[in-house]
Amino acid sequence: MITHKQFDNDFKYIEIQNKQAEAKIALQGAHLFHYKVKDKASLLWLSDSAYFEEGKAIRGGIPICFPWFGKNKEDPSLPQHGFARTQLWTVVLEEEIDEGTTYIQLQLKPNTHTLTQWAYLFDVTLDIIIGHELSIALSVTNTDTKPFEISTALHTYFSVSDIDNISIKGLENRAYYDALEEKTSIQDGDILIQEEVDRVYVNPTETITLLDRDEKISLQQEGSNSLVVWNPWIEKSKQMADMTEDGYRTMVCLETSNAREDARVLQAKESHVLRAEFKYG
Ligand code: BG6
Repeated sequence: MITHKQFDNDFKYIEIQNKQAEAKIALQGAHLFHYKVKDKASLLWLSDSAYFEEGKAIRGGIPICFPWFGKNKEDPSLPQHGFARTQLWTVVLEEEIDEGTTYIQLQLKPNTHTLTQWAYLFDVTLDIIIGHELSIALSVTNTDTKPFEISTALHTYFSVSDIDNISIKGLENRAYYDALEEKTSIQDGDILIQEEVDRVYVNPTETITLLDRDEKISLQQEGSNSLVVWNPWIEKSKQMADMTEDGYRTMVCLETSNAREDARVLQAKESHVLRAEFKYG
């Protein structure tokens, strides 16, 4: 079942329920903010104090970072992570493929707001498949006559039982840029989160595994050669109005991205697809 809903303040979202899973997608940002497989806990973390308000990004789920990731290189005063997560997207397709699989496609087109911040014409679609597995793909086409550079992310917030219970596999011996230390290091063994972490890993293995006690979640990526690992820990959380004091303990971001050196240049008419697939086991 696909239902169009809205909160009291008119903030619109789509609710999906099928035999395998349930999900919620906000039209602002094409933001998947809930996904849960039957008989499992929620896969995605959502802050207890997240905003569902026009013009404010939702803290949790899968924010879409486009056309730049992090700070804008030319103008750092522009909104962090680009405008896609606070723009209103249009639903292009919604289809119940079978009893356990629902397909939603949303689109973002340039408008006066996007052109003021980024003077390029583009066609961006987000394909979301909700079933026993979750698939999300961001497709960007350059519809302009000049090339442009994009730096993007599927900024996934995973919900975890407790930050002390998790380990992340698939990044052993990989180089990463540590945004806190502003230097490059090499990952030694599995990743454990015991402090603030803000890193861009280069050349991750195709499948990243998140282990949380007995639960194993696999993240498979395509069109990406960088993975961001982020946890704000205690002090940074206090500075965020949409993060509760102990929220950092039940989340970790593993972001399928084209970040830093993995930014892509698209010539006129060229397209790029960034895809992430999530499954248990
Ligand atoms: C991560 C960045 O991707 O997103 C961090 O690496 C940043 O530096 C975090 O703090 C959250 O960003 P925002 O804009 O949603 O608060």
